[in-house]
Amino acid sequence: MKERKMLYAGSFDPVTYGHLDIIRRGARLCDTLVVGVLRNYSKAALFSVEERMGLLREATADVGNVVVDSFEGLLANYVKQNGICVVIRGLRATWDFDYEIQMAQMNARLYGNEVETVFLMTDPQHSFVSSSIVKEVFSLNGEIDGLVPPRVIAAMEAKRAAQQREQVRE
Ligand code: PNS
Repeated sequence: MKERKMLYAGSFDPVTYGHLDIIRRGARLCDTLVVGVLRNYSKAALFSVEERMGLLREATADVGNVVVDSFEGLLANYVKQNGICVVIRGLRATWDFDYEIQMAQMNARLYGNEVETVFLMTDPQHSFVSSSIVKEVFSLNGEIDGLVPPRVIAAMEAKRAAQQREQVRE
């Protein structure tokens, strides 16, 4: 039987427990779940794509059927070139919906009817969590325990220390 391969794509800058919940639940629905990190040169990121992939690999090491990859350009092209049959997205609340339906419909136009976008409802305990809000709170010295894995907090602290050293040198 053909391998059932699904894709969960995103920026993951950095991965949050909200993402990890979707990854764990998504992985139960397929043979292989590819977590695809977008290489987006136009968006300033805290972590490099390689760093994000490393943090994702560590955080999903206990999930046997997760593969972490990166992609450039159209998601629809990655889907077609890699035999993906389902793209999953997490829906936190109604505010996600407008953007998500637009993206799902545009992707459906690009990759055709054999590929579906499937939405998993975010666990309510994560519905306010996003990478952006985590970075903002952290940058203002707020508490982010329980929103991202400890390894991610350590990596964010290391980035901040490096930035502070850089500022002292300037
Ligand atoms: O984590 P994000 O930033 O919400 O993920 C968005 C992502 C990466 C899934 C989306 O921006 C994407 O698919 N980008 C690739 C470029 C593309 O295909 N654009 C057209 C989407 S309709």
